Amino acid sequence: MTEADLYDVYKGVFVPKHLHPPDSLKYYEDFTFRSDDVLIVTYPKSGTTWLQEIVPLIHSEGDLTPVHTIPNWDRVPWLEEHRAKILNLEQRPSPRVFATHFHYGMMNESFFKVKPKVIYVMRNPKDVFTSSFHYYGMASYLVNPGTADEFLEKFLNGKIMFGSWFDHVKGWLKAKDQDHIFYISYEEMIQDLKGSVTKMAQFLEKPLSPEVIEKIAENCLFKNMKQNKMSNYSLVPEEFMNQKKSEFLRKGISGDWKNLFTEAQTEKFNTVYKDKMNNVTFKFFWD
Ligand code: A3P
Repeated sequence: MTEADLYDVYKGVFVPKHLHPPDSLKYYEDFTFRSDDVLIVTYPKSGTTWLQEIVPLIHSEGDLTPVHTIPNWDRVPWLEEHRAKILNLEQRPSPRVFATHFHYGMMNESFFKVKPKVIYVMRNPKDVFTSSFHYYGMASYLVNPGTADEFLEKFLNGKIMFGSWFDHVKGWLKAKDQDHIFYISYEEMIQDLKGSVTKMAQFLEKPLSPEVIEKIAENCLFKNMKQNKMSNYSLVPEEFMNQKKSEFLRKGISGDWKNLFTEAQTEKFNTVYKDKMNNVTFKFFWD
């Protein structure tokens, strides 16, 4: 199957038709935010599922019920996905938590007016590429990645779902002086999960005791989330995501790109990265 079969172009980026039919995208366009909403924003494969576990646990003060009883996609629904429409999100009690893969410039009018809280998660793009490469090979709603060289070409040119990683990150960083947006990286969370949970809880104005932080961080360790059927995508039928090919919670480490990239691919990636990110002053957590 090709891009034409599986994707639509929406505001300049590919969106998988199966998950984001036109009426769902329209639903998002008309969606009304509340100022105490929390929006988890990511480029795909940057740690969305991890945040869909952490933020509800911050709100529940460490009570594990929500993450043990509600699948991550209903617990923290994507606003652009077809399920958003049927979940009656307008009626959810505050504080509501949503996810989105939209670029900054794709956000709707209400977002810019209301300024809900945003947690923007970034990940080393070489690891995003690596995670995506495996994911595109197992998810039937996405175009098969082909070889790593072929997929690299598409990744660097933004010809994959939700477009260019570079544009996504640069777009959201433009908003970095606004205090309703909090930036964190996958690598910081790997290095210090408890510290990261503490910072997120402070941003969400939900000060938690060290014991609760400890409990949340423990539950959100990769090995523990991997066992949670409400978070490991094992409820999704195999014809949609074939986890025998590659698990959704695959490795959960930083630096796995080193096991995939050839020297030539690394060089190519670095050249494009340098060119596209050359005027970005934000200090990233990766080199
Ligand atoms: P890998 O494929 O590198 O393992 P998303 O949720 O945005 O689709 O991102 C998926 C990536 O986040 C996968 O990366 C997945 O394993 C990783 N991930 C999910 N939960 C994690 C956790 N608790 N700790 C570390 N990585 C996690």
